[in-house]
Amino acid sequence: MAAEPDIKAYLQERLKTRFMGRELHYIAVTTSTQDIARTLAEQGAPEGTAVIAGEQQSGRGRMGRPWLSPSGGLATSIILHPSIASVYLLPAITSVAVFRMLRKMGIKAGIKWPNDVLVKGKKVCGILIENATAGGELRYSIAGIGINVNFDTGKYPEIADIATSLSVQLGHEAPLAEVALHLYTELEDIYTGIAEPASIIDEWSQNMVTIGRTVSADFYGNRIDGTAEGINQQGNLVVRLADGSTREIVAGDVTVTNTNGGA
Ligand code: BTN
Repeated sequence: MAAEPDIKAYLQERLKTRFMGRELHYIAVTTSTQDIARTLAEQGAPEGTAVIAGEQQSGRGRMGRPWLSPSGGLATSIILHPSIASVYLLPAITSVAVFRMLRKMGIKAGIKWPNDVLVKGKKVCGILIENATAGGELRYSIAGIGINVNFDTGKYPEIADIATSLSVQLGHEAPLAEVALHLYTELEDIYTGIAEPASIIDEWSQNMVTIGRTVSADFYGNRIDGTAEGINQQGNLVVRLADGSTREIVAGDVTVTNTNGGA
């Protein structure tokens, strides 16, 4: 990871966004950038405020899982204020931003519903959206994005088989500050179009590797198996079962049971 003055100075000099990443906090080592961002949001930090950590000691993932976050990764959390009616779009917005950033860096990626980003079938990025609500109102959301940039995922037995990193894919280190620059730029571009969900859902589903695959999913506590047929306008995954009926998966994870080795 570039040292604080490097990454901060790099971003401050080059970032042309209106609000995304304009207030930037860098912490060399922390528990989780989600916690720092939450504290900042509670103190009234503006939308787009971003936290970057060099290393997280208790990075967290979706569904209570830990997120391995050694030095060389990009761990960032961004404060957002979507309307409560639009918050369901955040998994799509953030994963498309990562997908676009990787394309700019010359890496072909795919999105695994709802918001994992894969390269050659392995996870390169995980996204955690945490929402703070009060009295039925959305106070703020924190979009946590973890990207395996410059470390050898093969050296970590717990993720060696399922994860990859940009440096592993490229065969050399990737410019981490540039990864952050493209990420915040793409994120602002997509997020400002939040009032037009159709084009966001479209771009998300066009780049989703889950579609057309045989999947296992949790459907209200029951496991179902079927073929992922598409994404509906609410962002749910539509799965066709063997009996011809369909189920809409609203949240959770799916396991892709026939991988074809693509992105
Ligand atoms: C997942 O795939 O389960 C989501 C992983 C999210 C990891 C990021 S890293 C930055 C932010 N801080 C955290 O503790 N988690 C998110």
